[in-house]
Amino acid sequence: MSSRKFFVGGNWKMNGSKGELDNLVNLLAKNSSETEVVVAPPFVFLDYLHNKKTNFALSGQNCYKESKGAFTGEISPKMLKDVGADWVILGHSERRHVFGEKDDLIADKVAFALKEGLSVIFCIGEKIEERENNLTEKICFGQLGAIKDKIKDWSKIVVAYEPVWAIGTGKTATPEQAQEIHQALRKWLHDNISQDASNKTRILYGGSVTGANCKELAAKADIDGFLVGGASLKPEFANIVNSKN
Ligand code: PGA
Repeated sequence: MSSRKFFVGGNWKMNGSKGELDNLVNLLAKNSSETEVVVAPPFVFLDYLHNKKTNFALSGQNCYKESKGAFTGEISPKMLKDVGADWVILGHSERRHVFGEKDDLIADKVAFALKEGLSVIFCIGEKIEERENNLTEKICFGQLGAIKDKIKDWSKIVVAYEPVWAIGTGKTATPEQAQEIHQALRKWLHDNISQDASNKTRILYGGSVTGANCKELAAKADIDGFLVGGASLKPEFANIVNSKN
């Protein structure tokens, strides 16, 4: 049995409303599993949830690498903390591929968020053409490598492996495909960071996780939880939170 606490993140992306958040809070209030649950609503709802946090923590979906200033549209780690978020998602494939964020910027943001006291859900993953050309490991190792020299303490990082072709498409990686890359990522942590980081860092799977497929994925040795998009807006999120029970 792994010592890594099972972790489930709900990434609402640009969806939801206060009313839907109330439903989620009520749903999660019934959760008695040991799973660490982190919910990432759009920024504007964080403060609304601040005083409703029970058995879950809050995350921002992004933040910038400066504490303040003339950066229209951005928010800082301190602002996230101010409205009750202890976590931030960085490197998400939509930030990389819709908004063009590059490894360097993402690495600076990860380093700054950690310095400011946030924990980070750091996302990596390959596109379909990269998988078809056997580049999955190369791409993922490169994305991890980009933060390697800027991060000293890995204890506040959770890695989310999210193949781009599986996000929001209904095409989940098979448990075997996911386990294979999770194992390789853990070996990368061993070879490039430390034995300790390899043993302790949670590696989540993300990409069309549902109430129906979560148990089989959760049973794999190196899958320590999930980052969930679409299904985190639905009642089945409770099943995903409980997938290890
Ligand atoms: P999905 O999104 O569960 O809707 O595929 C996952 C994510 O983007 O984190």
